[in-house]
Amino acid sequence: GEYLLTLAIETSCDETSAAVLKNGREVLSNVISTQIEQHKKFGGVVPEVASRKHVENVDMVIQDALDEAGVSLRQIDHIGVTYGPGLVGALLVGVSTAKAMAYALNIPLIGVNHIEGHIYANFIEDPTLEPPFLCLIVSGGHSHLAYIKDYGRYEIMGKTRDDAVGEAFDKVARAMELGYPGGPIIDQLAKQGDPNAIHFPRVYLENDSYDFSFSGLKSAVLNYLNSQRQKGEGIKVEDVAASFQQAVMEVLIHKTLEGAKQKNVDKIVLAGGVAANSALREGLKKKAAALGFDVKYPSLQLCTDNAAMIGCAAYYNYLKGNTADLYLNAVPNLKL
Ligand code: KG4
Ligand code: ZN
Repeated sequence: GEYLLTLAIETSCDETSAAVLKNGREVLSNVISTQIEQHKKFGGVVPEVASRKHVENVDMVIQDALDEAGVSLRQIDHIGVTYGPGLVGALLVGVSTAKAMAYALNIPLIGVNHIEGHIYANFIEDPTLEPPFLCLIVSGGHSHLAYIKDYGRYEIMGKTRDDAVGEAFDKVARAMELGYPGGPIIDQLAKQGDPNAIHFPRVYLENDSYDFSFSGLKSAVLNYLNSQRQKGEGIKVEDVAASFQQAVMEVLIHKTLEGAKQKNVDKIVLAGGVAANSALREGLKKKAAALGFDVKYPSLQLCTDNAAMIGCAAYYNYLKGNTADLYLNAVPNLKL
């Protein structure tokens, strides 16, 4: 046929996922097997447990993705796989599997940067979306403000100097023993809380900087919790959640809008797990509309880790001739 079928594999953290895409933007299947239950009792992802679970599940998840798409392995034109950033043992499961399959089928292999994948989730969500745009990428492992000039051409305007946004959400949730992952739980609790109940710091750094810093805010929340406990005073988790979330979002939204003005774009795009946050989605949309910017974000399932976004990025890399050879290796600290 006159189309390309991409098989994509994602195993960088705690989701084993495989997807089949037609011409890069049409998702025929996107199977996600989450390990959250296995990691919950530890309050975070345990790397060794993650690797083992990927090994157990990856073949089945790939077969499910092919079945759901109604596609046989022989019809696949190329294979895309996340090769970083992420947990080395987890990444290696996907990379080894993809290499073996590409070799056996004699088809091209494409190594995909996981962060780039998060950006590309937006191309699936909105088939008409084209660069240039400004993108705020916020997840459990990374926080970037990037100007996306074209497919595969990025200018990083700012990034976190310490904790990633999702990491701060998870740590604050953990300190209140709310469960894992903390982001969605804080998001829900915050809806019943008062965002002005407790004043937590807003860290803007230097005047012209687009960098972020969240460890000071995280410490301020932990100090507040400790001092309330020491004083024998109660903690209203809804108010802490709402006040913390508000402090994060004010800074994120402010810097994103300043970046959009500087780059003179008309579109702002959200990416990564924290792009699922309702206060970020609604808050940014409202403030951006007043300034004439259009705001886009992926559906909830495409915000968090999934192979469809990796497949979309693989497709555009393939069109540019960015294929890998069988020496492709996992790169745990790969940069955007
Ligand atoms: O992109 P992702 O699935 O994995 C990484 O590549 O890191 O992001 C997971 C992160 C976790 O820290 C999780 O707590 C956060 O995204 N997250 C949220 C929400 N949903 C997921 N943070 C805030 N609000 C949410 N609704
Ligand atoms: Zn991710």
